[in-house]
This record gives sequence, C-alpha cells and structure tokens, in this order.
Amino acid sequence: MKRFRRLRQNEVIRDMVCETRLNKKDFIYPIFVVEGENIKQKVDSMPNVYRYSIDKLDDILNKVNQSGISGILIFGIPEHKDEKGSEAYSKNGIVQKAIRHIKKIYPKMLVIADVCLCEYTNHGHCGVVKNNEILNDESLPIIAKIAVSVTEAGADIVAPSCMMDGDVLAIRNALDKAGFINTPIMGYSAKYSSAYYSPFRDAAESAPEFGDRKTYQMDFRNLKEGVREIENDISQGADIVMVKPALAYLDVIKTVSEKFGYPLAAYSVSGEYSMIKAAAINGWIDEKKIVLENVTAIKRAGADIIITYYAIDIAEWLKEEY
Ligand code: PBG
Ligand code: ZN
Repeated sequence: MKRFRRLRQNEVIRDMVCETRLNKKDFIYPIFVVEGENIKQKVDSMPNVYRYSIDKLDDILNKVNQSGISGILIFGIPEHKDEKGSEAYSKNGIVQKAIRHIKKIYPKMLVIADVCLCEYTNHGHCGVVKNNEILNDESLPIIAKIAVSVTEAGADIVAPSCMMDGDVLAIRNALDKAGFINTPIMGYSAKYSSAYYSPFRDAAESAPEFGDRKTYQMDFRNLKEGVREIENDISQGADIVMVKPALAYLDVIKTVSEKFGYPLAAYSVSGEYSMIKAAAINGWIDEKKIVLENVTAIKRAGADIIITYYAIDIAEWLKEEY
C-alpha cells in the first residue's frame, strides 16, 4: 500500500515537503490617492481600504515599508475629469505628485503606476470616446504620454490597464524615446471584463458612464484568447505580464505560466477582497486561513507576483507560523 500519510504526519515534515511557499516579496499592495488635504476616506465596499490625500499617505507607506512586501501599485483620483483625461498626464496630476512624495520619503520603495484613463475621463472609459465608441489608436498616444509622465515623476514600473491594442508597444517606444530604456512595463495583458471590479470602481470613481468595457476587456469565456493577449504583449515588449482577476482565472494563470517563461503577475481584485471581507466580518469564515489558502492557490497555479488588498495583512500573517 502506498502510504501518503507518512509525509503528512507532523508539521515539520509537511513543511519540508510542501510544494508552494509564500514569501512576503510575492506581494504588491494597491493604494488609492485622492486630491485634497487631510483625507483618509473609507471605501464603503472595501472595508479597511481607504483613499488617501498625499499628506495622509505616510501611515500606510510606513506600513508597507515595515511589511517587507515588494511594493505598491498606485491609482489616482483627480479633482477634475475631462474628455481626454488630461490630469492623467499632467506634471501636477495627483499620481505624479504622490509618486514624488513617496520617492522623497522612501526612495527605494518600488512604485508601480497604473496607466489608464478611466479614473480621469468624464465618461469613465479607458480610452478616448467619440460617438459612444471607445477609440483604440487615438488612445495610444495619450496612454504613452501618461506612462512617460508618471515615469518622469519617479515610477519604477508602468502598468497599462486600458486593454487598448498596441498599448505596450506605444509605451515602450515613448519611454525609450524619453530615455527611460530601463523602465519595465507590466502589461495587464489578459484582463477580463469582470463583475469582480465593481468595488474598485467605487474606490476609484471610475465606473463607465455609459455601456460597459466589453469592447476592450476580454470575454471571460475565453482562455486561448488570453494566451494570445499575453503572447502579443510580450512581443510588444512587456517585461512582466498579468492575468486579472486571479481566483476565477487559475486556468489562465496556469496555462500562461507554463507556456511563457515570463514573470507573471496575478491581480486578486477588489471583488475577491470584498467577498472575503464581508464573510469575515459576519464571522462566517476564518479570514486569515481563507486568504492564505487563496493566495497559495494563485501561486501554485503559477503566479510569481500577487497584487492584493490583503498584501500587508499577508506579510504580517506570514511572520506568524501557518
Ligand atoms: C482600470 C482598472 C480597474 C482595475 C484596475 N485598473 C477597473 C476596471 O477595469 O474597471 C480593477 C482593480 C480591482 O478591481 O481591484 N483600468
Ligand atoms: Zn481603465
């Protein structure tokens, strides 16, 4: 008889033979920065997540710094939104100011800047809109301009999340031309059109004013198309690729990680966070155990980097034994 239980008999042996080990360096923490002063505002649909004005960022930055996670992903909520999302590429845009502030206090903190238009446009779409259509090629120069602008402000990595075709290439060319040949691009390569984003849109005030994002974000019925998206972003110069959301897309993560030898990020999105939070607040589940089980599954599927609103908690939990 094969006795599998031999290697399960105590914690020391189980730990020795375990196949998947979490490390605090696997994690990236998203932060929302808002224009204004003295603001630390709750996001109703995401308990324990806040929008911070720059002067209130230090607390959370300090926590990130203490936690030992790899870095942060930054999102901005501007004061004014317009047709073209011009505050996204303004030298004094909210994200640009925030990055300069962060780099002044923590020069070594890894800052990934989300590059998109939806938080900055009055229509809430991720590209330029004309006659209720989201235009692809017209959006590319703006997306590239945002990438250069946030890099000038000090971003270490840019992460285009707009799902416009050719975004990675446009950004690579623009960064190179501006002299930023060493700034990596993390492509939101296989980003699915997902109901799991709704708490984020609450947090970032980025819900589309009309229609949905189905003409640019992916159809969740498709795996092979996700592989093609990843392949294409790599060919355009993406240094890191991403699958988003994470938990309902483990097949995509697994397929992509086996097929391409590229660093792979998985974004465990707002809806994944809020579902667990809601159940935890009700006392229906053990939050820590559920979260660690989920992120272990995401890593087991093949993700190298996990972006999650639980990143700081996870780093804390990993200090304890589990
Ligand atoms: C915007 C963007 C979204 C997320 C990251 N960047 C939302 C969207 O596409 O509407 C989702 C993140 C989350 O849900 O946590 N392009
Ligand atoms: Zn967007």
